[in-house]
Amino acid sequence: MIELQGVTKRYGDFTAVEGLDLTVQWGEVFGFLGANGAGKTTTLKMLAGILRADAGIVRVGGIDMRTHAVEAKRHLAFVPDRPYVYDKLTGSEFLRFSASLYGLQWKAVEARAAELLEMFELSSWQHELVEQYSHGMRQKLLLSAAVLHRPKVLMVDEPLVGLDPRGARLLKDMLRAYAARGNSVLMSTHTLETVEGTCDRIGIMKRGKLVASGTVPELRTWLRMPDAPLEQLFLHLTGEPASRDVAEVLSV
Ligand SMILES: Nc1ncnc2c1ncn2[C@@H]1O[C@H](COP(=O)(O)OP(=O)(O)OP(=O)(O)O)[C@@H](O)[C@H]1O
Ligand SMILES: [Mg+2]
Repeated sequence: MIELQGVTKRYGDFTAVEGLDLTVQWGEVFGFLGANGAGKTTTLKMLAGILRADAGIVRVGGIDMRTHAVEAKRHLAFVPDRPYVYDKLTGSEFLRFSASLYGLQWKAVEARAAELLEMFELSSWQHELVEQYSHGMRQKLLLSAAVLHRPKVLMVDEPLVGLDPRGARLLKDMLRAYAARGNSVLMSTHTLETVEGTCDRIGIMKRGKLVASGTVPELRTWLRMPDAPLEQLFLHLTGEPASRDVAEVLSV
């Protein structure tokens, strides 16, 4: 599972994440929400071992990222928000490359790779160079690569951006199925309408701090807003009231 205790990250004088406590259990899909710049990507990168926390404890699958980063990384996959893939590799070559990074024999994962490409409707593209792939196709290739080594912890940063409705449905089903097998999934997203059907619990960040976490019904009870849609809860928790009417601003 995923554990953050008192985690702080600074960029120079600016504190992007401050004293963050968060636990994602086995079997759970956790949705990470928050305004632009709230600190979601920074947090995910610390969990993936790409950024080092300035303070606090980061554990993935019970393993401390500070002291045993390589071991912790064996058990996780991180899909960044920008789907960067080497242009001069084919999709199939990229999957081979990913498998080798995790020390997997291609023979052992070849069938699984073919199934994943089939699932993401990329089979007919597997021998084409990635430079010919669309944004959504790159995302699907990265998602295939991410689960190839069966990580116990899967972290995805805004995975729904760029996926067509079919791809988005597939991804949501995949995340649920992945968690149902006893793994942990952490997904940052701005797509509120997908949260309730996909995430068991959510956490909402504001300026580097977690301002709320729990199930959506728990948040409604806590805020005494029993009938409020998630959008209203989100705006209530993250916003200061708008200082000017939008229509008024646009008419300027
Ligand atoms: N490399 C960096 N150097 C300096 N500041 C950074 C860097 N990366 C992020 N920040 C700052 O840290 C804060 C948190 O950024 P982060 O990318 O974690 O936010 P986010 O919640 O993922 O936002 P978004 O929803 O827009 O993706 C922002 O104020 C951002 O400007
Ligand atoms: Mg981000």
